[in-house]
Amino acid sequence: MTTEAQLEAQFADTIEAKDRIEPRDWMPEAYRKTLIRQVAQHAHSEIIGMQPEGNWITRAPSLRRKAILLAKVQDEAGHGLYLYSAAETLGASRNELTEKLIAGKQKYSSIFNYPTLSYTDVGTIGWLVDGAAICNQVPLCRTSFGPYGRAMIRVCKEESFHQRQGYELLMTMMRGTDEQREMVQESVNRFWWPALMMFGPPDDDSPNTAQSMEWGIKTHTNDELRQKFVDMSIPQAEALGVTFPDENLKWNEERGHYDFSTPDWDEFWSVVKGNGPCNDQRIAHRKRAWDEGAWVREAALAFAEQSAEAAAPAQTGSAPGQTGSSPATTTEETAK
Ligand SMILES: [Fe+2]
Ligand SMILES: [Fe+2]
Repeated sequence: MTTEAQLEAQFADTIEAKDRIEPRDWMPEAYRKTLIRQVAQHAHSEIIGMQPEGNWITRAPSLRRKAILLAKVQDEAGHGLYLYSAAETLGASRNELTEKLIAGKQKYSSIFNYPTLSYTDVGTIGWLVDGAAICNQVPLCRTSFGPYGRAMIRVCKEESFHQRQGYELLMTMMRGTDEQREMVQESVNRFWWPALMMFGPPDDDSPNTAQSMEWGIKTHTNDELRQKFVDMSIPQAEALGVTFPDENLKWNEERGHYDFSTPDWDEFWSVVKGNGPCNDQRIAHRKRAWDEGAWVREAALAFAEQSAEAAAPAQTGSAPGQTGSSPATTTEETAK
């Protein structure tokens, strides 16, 4: 018999050795809960994040831009699904998590509560928002929970395409007219601060960070990642020919990093609490899609059950070596 203390010691050894915790392994309840909260918040962000850009699909300036944006928004749906699957291995179903999102009991990234005012914002979101997501997510490829880390590897590859398409869009506009250059600068001005806030509150106001780092869920603090993003973005802005709206942005020789102003944390908390420009709209839209899709989920489940029933007698009568008919397996998978 393995005692609770032995299980805890095994868990601690695995974390210490930077090995993965897998769904069937024993884990402390608090570790499971923290992960469910984080993975759910991440999944919700991918799904809600489809809305600000999805808003522009029907108004793309060319077929090429439309194809790129469609592919990008579709990728985000895929990211959401990988992540809901990862959460499912922790015992939290996609239904349960979506209900919590709609009821306002779980959060998503506050950046998606800002509006997209022109097609330029598609470029800025790709460059800065997907760029910030990459900074956040690359270290998560080595997170201690196996399914989450493995989902992140594929997600990050796709995020890098997202960032490049955004940068390329802005670069194209910067080669255009004065008016187009102004549109890029205006869009960058609007997204810069919300992008910096994507890394979460400052370290001294982030009570869960220390525990998450101890468990290997997080490997860098919010402020470390924010600094990395600032340092990375400035040369890109210079190459593009835009500036960021911060007069304190300058290279600090001593620190070996760029200095920058403190984001407006009051605005951040206000948006997190539901008072951003688009919070109500985002949740209302998600709720409508969820309600309107109820019949699809019901039909898929009923079909899976019927197929399983139909396949059952055939299985008992089948000769050795003839395993259960594949249609049942296939439909069950489709129903998930
Ligand atoms: Fe994504
Ligand atoms: Fe993305």
